Amino acid sequence: MKILVTGGAGFIGSHVVRRLVNGYPDHQIYNLDKLTYAGNLENLKDIESKQNYHFVKGDICDEAFIVSLFEENKFDSVVHLAAESHVDRSISGPKAFLQTNILGTANLLDAYRLYGNISVGKFYHISTDEVYGELGETGKFTETTCYKPNSPYSASKASSDHLVRAWHKTFNLPVVISNCSNNYGSNHFPEKLIPLVIKNVIERKPIPVYGEGKNVRDWLFVEDHAAAIDLILHHGRVGETYNIGGENEWQNIEIVKLICRILDEKLNRRIGESSELITFVKDRAGHDFRYAIDASKLKMELGWKPEVTFEEGIEKTIDWYLKNQDWVQRVSSGEYQHYYEQQYSQR
Ligand code: NAD
Ligand code: DAU
Repeated sequence: MKILVTGGAGFIGSHVVRRLVNGYPDHQIYNLDKLTYAGNLENLKDIESKQNYHFVKGDICDEAFIVSLFEENKFDSVVHLAAESHVDRSISGPKAFLQTNILGTANLLDAYRLYGNISVGKFYHISTDEVYGELGETGKFTETTCYKPNSPYSASKASSDHLVRAWHKTFNLPVVISNCSNNYGSNHFPEKLIPLVIKNVIERKPIPVYGEGKNVRDWLFVEDHAAAIDLILHHGRVGETYNIGGENEWQNIEIVKLICRILDEKLNRRIGESSELITFVKDRAGHDFRYAIDASKLKMELGWKPEVTFEEGIEKTIDWYLKNQDWVQRVSSGEYQHYYEQQYSQR
């Protein structure tokens, strides 16, 4: 099997690539990534010399390049993760999200339709629970919840989901889609809440909490997401959607306080010292109140369940950041400084 993973140098993608390379030595795994600010080959150092791993640098928006890559390689399956992924960046600059998430996805769908080995594999599109919009205090998103995206990011992901489904219906393309809740774990770019809080606590910088910190997210350890992706790639039913989530809802402020408590202990600080860094700042525009996933379809059909408890996962994650502060420094030099200044100095 020849499998193309897009966005394999990013946060989730690197965990997926590692799992496929190590778990399927007979499969050839190609990682196509543009290496934007969010993509980093350091994330895959441990597997870069494996014989079944191949890296290709390229942009999914470059149609001619994508066509020739598919023509040359005739991939059996595609696992499509490449995207602009950060909601705040989509508010300050939506165009890149429309380009990559919508047009980039269309390029891949068409190239796979024309040159992919569609009688053998599938086009697997990785998406987000944010396409469903927001929940109130109760309820969960299921696979039949209506789409109601609220941010430019989620609207672009919703559009890409619709394209994937349309290519299935119109061109008979074998596709599958999964919509997952918030991931956390190692190699998470420090623009997102959990790694940003860990970084700022370590550096004794203010911790920006949007609004009153009451918004709720359903957190899943990234390796549990990668395991679900592996299952769906190999056993998911063509034409179906699967929701993936952690059954692990937290208010932002509670998760921030938890990270502060753990780090006080690990860094031998006075209990309560780090939480003094918490600073409530102007809310995110259009901020979705709550997400929660009903993953029972995936559990019943394919036998998936999260293996890592939140207590274990958050401890592993914090330990990884403590041990890899050089990684954090490298990814947050340059462009990140400018981004951080723009996002947070006026808030
Ligand atoms: P990320 O931002 O960490 O990584 C994205 C990767 O895509 C990077 O390696 C980047 O270089 C690459 N990329 C971006 N534009 C590209 C282009 N035009 N051509 C080729 N490569 C390009 O994102 P992530 O958090 O790992 O998310 C991966 C996917 O999973 C996305 O599709 C996202 O919508 C989805 N998702 C993420 C989460 C989450 O909590 N992070 C949850 C559900 C779904
Ligand atoms: O639900 C899945 C989605 O989760 C993915 O599709 C996205 O790619 C991923 O980025 C994530 O989106 P969120 O917007 O939920 O994640 P983020 O880490 O940006 O924010 C989590 C919550 O924390 C959200 O309610 C906003 C809040 N927040 C975030 C940042 C960066 C803060 O309070 N302060 C911050 O500085």
